Amino acid sequence: MAEVIIVRDPIEAGRVAAAIFAQQIIANPATVLGLATGSTPLSTYAALATMVREDSIDVSRVRGFALDEYLAVPPEHPESYRSVITREVVEPLGLIPEHVFTPRGTGPDITRAGAEYEAMITEAGGVDLQILGIGSNGHVGFNEPGSSLASTTRIKALAEQTRADNARFFGSLEEVPTHCITQGLGTILRARQLVLLAFGTGKARAVAAALEGPVSSAVPGSVIQQHPRATVIIDEDAAARLVHAEYYRHAWRSAQDLLPVDF
Ligand code: F6R
Repeated sequence: MAEVIIVRDPIEAGRVAAAIFAQQIIANPATVLGLATGSTPLSTYAALATMVREDSIDVSRVRGFALDEYLAVPPEHPESYRSVITREVVEPLGLIPEHVFTPRGTGPDITRAGAEYEAMITEAGGVDLQILGIGSNGHVGFNEPGSSLASTTRIKALAEQTRADNARFFGSLEEVPTHCITQGLGTILRARQLVLLAFGTGKARAVAAALEGPVSSAVPGSVIQQHPRATVIIDEDAAARLVHAEYYRHAWRSAQDLLPVDF
């Protein structure tokens, strides 16, 4: 079972998650990070950027692999995940741009792009620490409901719910791409450590199904239950439908008493 940490708000969540990331990078300066886009990880990236600056953490050897990319959106488009990762992660943290990769969503032989990306991750030694958001329909990465639990990086059609959720980043729903290339659930499970974040009432149903429902391709986020080292950091709103919330609070409080960590 994942460790579940229920916090006040996204800012506190960002501080807790960033501390996990900072500890990992300090312990292994050549860490390979798995990077999510969307709104959820923004407070973590901002808090981590502050820690990197204030504590002079060396990130010159850190590498990163984004979870996903829109298909047929040129990398220079402001809403391509290449652009988002550059803006929200590479620049604020001061990572070396050539050390950070996104799946290829354009170019020749696009059906080979998934296998190419898998090979790049393997070549880098695998992802050490993967940050994840969760879609309101339970997706992680862009593995929509029905995705194989063993899937690897491949092209997927976006669910209409996901396109509607992401319309806020584009001018209109029509402009939201219909397809993406995403790390698979099998790829995500191979990361050595997972940190999943979720905020707001819109995520409460997906969070409860992922953490307390059966492991099922119907709720792709439920694969987190199969990972030996997973931490879930959510605000009170996202925790609203958890049956065992009191137990998670108790377990987190006692873990802090046993092993005080300065968050
Ligand atoms: C993004 C990704 C998605 C998002 C999810 C939540 O790289 O893989 O799974 O994490 O759609 O999006 P937000 O954070 O915008 O609510």
